[in-house]
Amino acid sequence: MNYTLVIHSILRWAVLLFGLWTVINALSGVFSKTKYTNSDNRTNLFFMISCDIQLLLGLVLYFNGSWFNLLKANAKEVMKDGANRFFAVEHISMMIIAWLLVHLGRSMVKRADTDAQKHKKSLIWFGIALVLILAMIPWPFRQIGISRALFPQF
Ligand code: HEM
Repeated sequence: MNYTLVIHSILRWAVLLFGLWTVINALSGVFSKTKYTNSDNRTNLFFMISCDIQLLLGLVLYFNGSWFNLLKANAKEVMKDGANRFFAVEHISMMIIAWLLVHLGRSMVKRADTDAQKHKKSLIWFGIALVLILAMIPWPFRQIGISRALFPQF
């Protein structure tokens, strides 16, 4: 059994939980004009940490598994096949962009002067990152070859 893949699969739920929580906090902050609290800061910190661990596990899966070798060996064929292209190119590149947005978001929010600005920046940066992550998860309803189970299969 590939334990790295099992943890990567389970940890998606932590990423989604903290991501959703962060975006809901930002939405309620923007619309109810509330203060930017320590709890808001902690929630998006957990979102960032879960994305960091997910990136690390993903890099191990990518470079220790077959996806990178496949791409190196025959990039043309990989790009022609939707499922291979998804894991060899799309999943990794879009998830790294989402991870970058989360990190940039944290520093933009830190730098913002007012609570209203902090909520607005949270909504934009973390919101776009969450949408990207949701779009690039290999959900069970995706095409054969891409689709993976919601939970690891033992
Ligand atoms: C927030 C970020 C990420 C989320 C939520 C996520 C989610 C997932 C999920 C749910 C799977 C399917 C697991 C299964 O088979 O049950 C998967 C597979 C995989 N992910 Fe990610 N991932 C993320 C980031 C990354 C990154 C940054 C990389 C690469 C650097 C990566 C590389 C991979 C690889 C190589 C697979 C293996 C597919 C396979 O061989 O079956 N992931 N990811």
